[in-house]
Amino acid sequence: MNTKELKQAFIALYGEGDGQIQAYFAPGRVNLIGEHTDYNGGYVFPCALSFGTYLLARKNNSRIVRFATTNFDHRGEVVLDEPFEKEGKSWINYPLGVISELHKEAKEIEGLDMLYSGDIPNGAGLSSSASIEMVTGTALNDIFGFNIEKMDLVKIGQNAENKFVGVNCGIMDQFASGMGAKDHALFLNCETLDYEKVPLVLDGIKIVIANTNLRRGLAESKYNERRSECDAAVAEISKVKPIPNLSRLSLDEFRELSANITDEVIKRRAHHVISENDRTLRAISALNAGDLEEFGKLMNQSHDSLRDDYEVTGKELDTLVEEARKIPGTIGSRMTGAGFGGCTVSLVKEDSIDDFISQVGEKYKEKTGLKADFYIAEVGDGAKKIEL
Ligand code: GLA
Repeated sequence: MNTKELKQAFIALYGEGDGQIQAYFAPGRVNLIGEHTDYNGGYVFPCALSFGTYLLARKNNSRIVRFATTNFDHRGEVVLDEPFEKEGKSWINYPLGVISELHKEAKEIEGLDMLYSGDIPNGAGLSSSASIEMVTGTALNDIFGFNIEKMDLVKIGQNAENKFVGVNCGIMDQFASGMGAKDHALFLNCETLDYEKVPLVLDGIKIVIANTNLRRGLAESKYNERRSECDAAVAEISKVKPIPNLSRLSLDEFRELSANITDEVIKRRAHHVISENDRTLRAISALNAGDLEEFGKLMNQSHDSLRDDYEVTGKELDTLVEEARKIPGTIGSRMTGAGFGGCTVSLVKEDSIDDFISQVGEKYKEKTGLKADFYIAEVGDGAKKIEL
């Protein structure tokens, strides 16, 4: 749906009204490297996509906020002066979480009519929820003139997810959706929140996203399990060398200290995080030096570490990556996001993309019985107000 159609849908739903309708957009993201490092104070390297969530909003001179979306039938509303709670597993929890976080900071909003519309494939692990949080925060900040800094909106988005929705994610997704920049990836230190926009110069090479289309059943519980395993590793190492998080250790330091972790599984989890930080730093140097072959090798190693040490891949992601690597024009291929389904990200030479899509798609179907979807990523801007 384009913005004109969206405006018509808004009017059909809420009437002509007398206030002005404002429009906003926040993107989804794909992470190029640096996986399961954000909640360990490590490095990530995501970029914002050109698809995401649109939001049209208009003040309605009441104390009621109404929510609707073109993606699902489910609609909802809250009365601002009454306490509100999480509504099961509804998408409305994302905007409600943002409003609840704004309330905590004494940022009071007024009644609004809101219509959302997302073009991110659902449940694909490309951060549709972060984009809903970021588009909501960006809209409310603008409409009510709160003057909240972008990075604080990112934190509000993460808190909405952690505290209201109840998903214990790190900061990467909201950060990428909020701070993204066209044709750049974002190199973020998740402990200090220092970041750099790195130009994505990919002569003749495209970022190809492949969707497993696998429902991510266990993703949430397994994600939280990995977080606790990392906490356990920090606790063990801290007995001999106090550290606030795993990312404070270099690979060499980890080799010296790893004997203090008795559980072999916990040791492998920690090894993934620390080696992934090292790979991410090397990948960014390689990109800056124009060495995409090296970048691709590090992406491959990242996947292997997520498969063997961190164990968050599974047959579907592994098959997509294995088949991708058989295509001569593939520079590198790995899972992206939380894992357990969702998507892979690959760097592919432009003239090999057709072969990539047909051959990887065919083999994937043969081996898993599922149909993969492919998207050629365009790297876009972060959350912003748009013209209607
Ligand atoms: C999900 C979370 C992020 C991050 C990734 C793994 O996308 O929302 O915070 O932890 O998984 O890198």
